[in-house]
Amino acid sequence: MPKWLNDAVFYEIYPQSFYDSNGDGIGDINGIIQKLDYVKGLGCNAIWLNPVYDSPFMDAGYDVRDYYKVAPRYGTNEDLVRLFEAAHRKGMKILLDLVPGHTSDTHPWFQIAKRARETDLSNRYIFTKSVWDAPPEYRLMCGICERNGNYLVNYFSSQPALNYGFYEITHPEWQLPPDHPDCLRTAEAIRAVMRFWLDKGADGFRVDMADSLVKNDDEKIATAKIWRRVREMLDADYPEAAMVSEWCHPDRAITNAGFHMDFYLDHYGNGYNRLFRFGEWGDLAVFNPNGLGDLKGFAEEYLPAYNRTKDKGYISFMTNNHDMPRVTAYLDKQAIKLVNAFIFTMPGVPFLYYGDEIGMRYQADLISKEGGFSRTGSRTPMQWCAGKNLGFSESDHPYLPVDLSDDAPTVENQKDDPDSIYRVVTDLIALRHKYDDLHGNGELEFLYRDDQIPFAYRRGNLTMFFNPLGREATITTDCDGDVIYKIGDATIADGKVLMKPQSFLLVG
Ligand code: GLC
Ligand code: CA
Repeated sequence: MPKWLNDAVFYEIYPQSFYDSNGDGIGDINGIIQKLDYVKGLGCNAIWLNPVYDSPFMDAGYDVRDYYKVAPRYGTNEDLVRLFEAAHRKGMKILLDLVPGHTSDTHPWFQIAKRARETDLSNRYIFTKSVWDAPPEYRLMCGICERNGNYLVNYFSSQPALNYGFYEITHPEWQLPPDHPDCLRTAEAIRAVMRFWLDKGADGFRVDMADSLVKNDDEKIATAKIWRRVREMLDADYPEAAMVSEWCHPDRAITNAGFHMDFYLDHYGNGYNRLFRFGEWGDLAVFNPNGLGDLKGFAEEYLPAYNRTKDKGYISFMTNNHDMPRVTAYLDKQAIKLVNAFIFTMPGVPFLYYGDEIGMRYQADLISKEGGFSRTGSRTPMQWCAGKNLGFSESDHPYLPVDLSDDAPTVENQKDDPDSIYRVVTDLIALRHKYDDLHGNGELEFLYRDDQIPFAYRRGNLTMFFNPLGREATITTDCDGDVIYKIGDATIADGKVLMKPQSFLLVG
């Protein structure tokens, strides 16, 4: 287990929208290099970079055409290596995004596999026996290539699934077992991609749809086996490299598959939305001040998983990512401050999505860009300062429009504002680094009041009290330390914590 993870705080960068250094309207790797000090200044010591590989961008780069080449719009492989080096000089790590489940349909492997002629790549993707063979339980593309067969897609239609085999074989005429040599070769090809970038200085990978590899694998047994093999490779040859899975099932991802970290999202019905998003406007979220939410759904789901996996890896909370509406669509500013207090004081390895530190808004009405659809509104350019495109680009045609409202938050107008989300985020990250108890593997104990809100939890010598409600509340406690940090108004005395509406207290 790489030691650095225990005190890691990640920043997720959507490269096309971060900083455009050459005025062509698209963020680029040089732009990220120029902004490394900004990221470091937040207290983040690691970055997850969304895909930067060559791609036709039907799904913003999650449709890879060449795993070995940086997309020209972002720069060159040499630029990416310079980013690794610049980050390392500053004591920062860079995780690339690995997309192992599918490629673009323009990938050379697929271009060969879809032809009629049989080659050693014919089993790299999953084709049925003939075009008349199209079982409805599979998402198949039918009758659009020379080869007599339909192929399985993993996400959008332009993303054919790579073939790692089928755990349960229901159509033996076209489904291969996971240990078929051609399926093993698919996994080997992805390991080769990993080695290529690790050898160039990458510090690991965020793994896209990590649970999607082997099909008909409900318990993900064969899929986990592939990742354990990858983990063996890392342990042997790249012991400092880290992998975080988009799996959202820590028992499977960490315990069975060997990931170092697993994202806490809402797949498999876990508690993420219940905390920060539930209901159309966040009505039932724990952090909504109307008090209609409750902690139970989250606690019952998270705590057992946390206890089962805490010695083996980390569960990663995130402020948001590039796939969900920003939290500003659901919660008010004070609630968002409390959300950040939660994310940055819980165990695991936290992730901050670019722009969340300044409270960037979800832009609901944008026309879809590069397969973004409803996600497009969370992918708009980073807002740096007043002026053209809020400092993102000199171009008249930025990747996406920036927030055009008069009071659009920018780094410039937020960073010295004592009332800003930026202030809370940077304060909390600094506290997280300062106190060992707040590190990834520190202890956690929830102090319940009937599983209800307000709530509190203890980590070592520190106790965090939260009142997300829009009304005052009191918590009785045996904790009698000093106040280390507070959001809103709250006091502790004589075994009682008096909490004004929407407040947070860190005592130790
Ligand atoms: C993941 C990515 C998402 C992408 C999809 C297909 O969920 O986060 O952005 O569209 O996988 O690769
Ligand atoms: Ca550019």
